[in-house]
Amino acid sequence: DGVFDARRRRGGIRTAQDLIEDGMDVGLGTGSTTAWAVAEVGRMIRHGELEDVRGVATSLQSHELAKEAGIPLVNLDAVTELDVTIDGADQYSEDEPTVIKGGGGAHAREKVVDAMADRLVIATDEEKATDPLDFPVPVEVMPDAREVVSKDIREVGGEPELRMAVKKDGPVFTANGNLVLDVDFGGLDDTAGTARDLEKIPGILEHGIFLDMVDTVYLGTEDDVDVLEF
Ligand code: A5P
Repeated sequence: DGVFDARRRRGGIRTAQDLIEDGMDVGLGTGSTTAWAVAEVGRMIRHGELEDVRGVATSLQSHELAKEAGIPLVNLDAVTELDVTIDGADQYSEDEPTVIKGGGGAHAREKVVDAMADRLVIATDEEKATDPLDFPVPVEVMPDAREVVSKDIREVGGEPELRMAVKKDGPVFTANGNLVLDVDFGGLDDTAGTARDLEKIPGILEHGIFLDMVDTVYLGTEDDVDVLEF
């Protein structure tokens, strides 16, 4: 795990250094990789290397990290456009480019903040590149609708599992008060088709397939960072 950590650290820090400029409004992603980007943006602000940067958090986690790092924060409802968002991924396919997100249960807000950005940059490591994508797709669902949504999901070929909390008895609740189903589709041969299927099911707030949104991927490798532009 130490190796992965070094890759994520390298990729995360580099995104901040390469992409963030004075005056930018920046979406701040969730997860261990973007935590490094957030820390680096904070460091650059403290050292006078960056001015007038404002952050919009994708989750309570990134809000807390940004606050700690000293990045001025703006509420999501105060802006409609961002210059860049740096976010993480749970899995990533090079061809499309498509990412699966929501391992942290924050994908609904992440999708909003990611879509608002002129440029969406995903910081991740080479281990998460897979083709076809096979990470269980996180699906945020209205609590009362979970049974009917589960039935509808099985009809389109997925096997849903209610995400349970680690440190308490019972399910995970999202920041929006909803539940999360992790849906195993096996390998996703038709990612766009699966995304469309999920979008037709009432009771689903958001799924974790991010299609046609990614502009750049920073891939932390053994000893460097690969930058892929789409
Ligand atoms: C959160 O919901 C996810 O989409 C994260 O962005 C994802 O889990 C990335 O986390 P790591 O950088 O820790 O792998």
